[in-house]
Amino acid sequence: MDCPAPLSHIAFIMDGNGRWAQKRGLPREHGHKAGAETFRRIVNYCGDIGIKYVTVYAFSTENWKRPKREVDAIFDLLCRYIDNYLPELVMRGVSVKFIGERSGISKDVIKKIDLLEEKTDGLDKKLFIALNYGGRAEICGAVNRLIAEGKTKINEDDISSCIYTYPAPDPDLIVRTGGEYRISNFMLWQAAYSELYITDTLWPDMTPSDVDLALEEFKRRNRRYGGV
Ligand code: FPP
Repeated sequence: MDCPAPLSHIAFIMDGNGRWAQKRGLPREHGHKAGAETFRRIVNYCGDIGIKYVTVYAFSTENWKRPKREVDAIFDLLCRYIDNYLPELVMRGVSVKFIGERSGISKDVIKKIDLLEEKTDGLDKKLFIALNYGGRAEICGAVNRLIAEGKTKINEDDISSCIYTYPAPDPDLIVRTGGEYRISNFMLWQAAYSELYITDTLWPDMTPSDVDLALEEFKRRNRRYGGV
């Protein structure tokens, strides 16, 4: 299907990797591995149907609480993903930007993410990967930057211009897989008027047809932005 006209930015909370693995009697890391493949398939599909901005929630500031083995596996997958996928992203015209805090992430991983950002800089489509990301921390960071610049009164446009995704438009649609009805500290500022779509499908099982279902539902929504 083609991207519905009013949608330019879709975001995904990629939940359910652990349950996908557990259902198969496998360690949780296997779910993340399958999830990384799904991530690639879904990002490519969104690009193919003309969606300009895609954001994925890969690792939250709270995810450090997970066992070290699982955390290491996620960062390992990310590094392998960068190695394998970089030429394809360039070929597809996708510019990648990591959003979140760099502090706490190992030097080797930072080197890789810097390289991916540098090699894809300026390309037409945008992929934001939220890594060591927290929505509240993002807003605090924006406010602190404005204070450091000497601002004494802050308005919404000021904050919008200091968040990680600036100048991209806010997500029109946020899709959460895995069936939980919460936002989990994701894009708190940007999500003010986003439509939410929650599916029980676990992230590794997510297919382009499931994206189509979310887009069909989005087309039926009546976005009023507080109006009537
Ligand atoms: C949430 O599922 C998923 C994560 C915390 C990690 C997401 C990581 C990937 C999709 C793979 C690596 C990413 C990239 C960008 C290559 P969960 O583990 O909370 O699932 P559960 O709710 O079933 O336990």
